[in-house]
Amino acid sequence: MYNDNPTIKDVKKDLNLELNKPLSEKRQGEVLDLPSDTAQKKFYIESYGCQMNFSDSEIVASVLAKDGFGSTRNMEEADLILINTCSIREKAEDTVRKRLSVFNKAKKNKPELIVGVLGCMAERLKKKFLEEEKIVDIVVGPDAYRDLPVLVAGAEDGNKGVNVFLSREETYADISPLRLGSNGVSAFISIMRGCDNMCSFCVVPFTRGRERSRDAFSIVAEAQDLFDRGYREVTLLGQNVDSYKWENPESKKNVSFAELMEMVALVSPDLRVRFSTSHPKDMTDDVLYTMAKYENICNYIHLPVQSGSSRILKLMNRTYDRDWYKERVESIYRIIPDCAISSDIIAGFCTETEEEHQETLSIIKWAKYSMSYMFFYSERPGTLAAKKYDDDIPLEVKKRRLTEIVELQTSISRDENMKDIGKTFRVLIEGDSKKSSSDFKGRNSQNKMLIFPKMPNLKPGDYVEVKVLSSTSATLKGEIV
Ligand code: SAH
Ligand code: SF4
Ligand code: F3S
Repeated sequence: MYNDNPTIKDVKKDLNLELNKPLSEKRQGEVLDLPSDTAQKKFYIESYGCQMNFSDSEIVASVLAKDGFGSTRNMEEADLILINTCSIREKAEDTVRKRLSVFNKAKKNKPELIVGVLGCMAERLKKKFLEEEKIVDIVVGPDAYRDLPVLVAGAEDGNKGVNVFLSREETYADISPLRLGSNGVSAFISIMRGCDNMCSFCVVPFTRGRERSRDAFSIVAEAQDLFDRGYREVTLLGQNVDSYKWENPESKKNVSFAELMEMVALVSPDLRVRFSTSHPKDMTDDVLYTMAKYENICNYIHLPVQSGSSRILKLMNRTYDRDWYKERVESIYRIIPDCAISSDIIAGFCTETEEEHQETLSIIKWAKYSMSYMFFYSERPGTLAAKKYDDDIPLEVKKRRLTEIVELQTSISRDENMKDIGKTFRVLIEGDSKKSSSDFKGRNSQNKMLIFPKMPNLKPGDYVEVKVLSSTSATLKGEIV
C-alpha cells in the first residue's frame, strides 16, 4: 500500500506522533496502477486522505481513460501529474506542499508537464492555489471531475483553470471507477458524498459540500459487477453512512441505509459487505438487526467517539453525549455479540481539561475498541471551532495526551487479540502477507488481519477457516483448518 518514493517516507517520519493512521493516510502517496498500453498521453496520480478520496481517484482515472489518457506509475513518463489532496489536518496539507515541490523539479526538466491539484485542498484554497504554488496549472474540486478533460485541454493551450463548483446532485453514479490498482478482492463503493453535520473541528462540510445519496440501484449494480469480476468484498463509503437516504423516483419510496445494506448483501452470500463511517447520533437498531440477519455483512463498526467528555462533545457539536454513545455501544454488543468496534479520537481539543482527557481514556477502556485512529487537534481555518474557540492546549500537552491514548489503545488491542487465540474464523484471502510470500493475509468478519501459511490450490478471493495460534496488538497468526 505504501509508495516506495523516498520523499514520501521522509514525510512519514515527520508525522511522528500520529501513529495509527487511518487507512486514508496509510494510502498516502498511493499510485494507481493502470495499464499504460499504447495511449499517447499519460497521467500519473497520487492520492492522499480518506477512502473517499481514494475512491474519487478511481473516478478520475475513468474520466481520463475515456479522454484517451493512459496511466503511468513513473512520474518522469507523465504528461499530466495529479495530486488528490486532503485538508483534514495541517500535516495532511504540509505533505501535499512537499510533494508539489518535488513535482516542481520534474517540471523544470519538462516544461510542458501539466500539474493538477484535486480534492479537498483544491476546494479549500480554490484559485489561491494558483497564486501560492506557481507550478499548479489546474485546480479541481471533488464535484468537478467530469470537467477534467476540458481543464487539461485548456492547460495544454497555456490557460490555467479552476473548477471548484460544489454540486447538490453530483454522485458520479454513472461513472464506472477504474480499479486496476486494487487487489482484485476488495473494492470501495461510494454511496453518498458531502456531509451536513457541522462538527466544529472539521473541514469536510466545506470541502465536500452538502450531503447527497447515490441512486441505490446503481450501487447494487456496481456491487453485482464487482462480484461477477471476482471481487468478494465491498465497503460502502460515506462520511455518515447512517444518514443515507434515496428516494426511488418510480415508487417514491425512500431507501434507508439498512435497506441499502440488505440489497447489497443479497447480491451473493459470498460477497462480504462492510461500511464506513457510522455516526453515533444516526446509527439505528435497524442497521444492527440487518447486520445480525446477514452472515455476509461483516461484524465490524467504525463508530468514532472523538472524545469521552460530554462537555467536549458539545463543543465539538457532535450532537450526542457520553451516555448516548455508551447506549449505542451497548446496543451493538447486545444485538451482535461478536461485533468489533473501532473509533477515532481527538486529543487536546480546545479547553480540554486533564479530567476530560481521563474521560476519553476511560471510554476507550470501556468500549474495548479493537483499534482506533488517534490524532491531536489541529485547528482548521474557517471551521466553527477556529471561529469560536481558542486553540489553547499547548502542543506538548496535546502530544502527551495523544501518547497516553495510543498506549492505552495498543494495550487494549493486544488484550482483545489475545482473547482470539484458539478461536477459528472465516477469512477472506486478500493476497500474500507483507513479510513472507509463503504466507497469506486476510481479514475476519471483525476486520482483524490474520496471517497464515499458504496451502495448495488456494488463491486471493477464496474463503478459508483459520484457527488463531498467536497474536500481537495488530495481527493474529494462525493456520488453515
Ligand atoms: N465522517 C467521519 C470522520 C471523517 S474525518 C466521522 O464523522 O466520524 C476522520 C477523522 O479525522 C475524524 O473522525 C476525526 O477524528 C479526525 N479529525 C477531523 N478533523 C480534525 C482536526 N481538525 N484535528 C484533528 N483530527 C481531526
Ligand atoms: Fe466531519 Fe463531522 Fe461530517 Fe465526520 S460527521 S465528516 S467529522 S463534519
Ligand atoms: Fe477525506 Fe481529507 Fe477530504 S479526510 S473528505 S480527503 S479533507
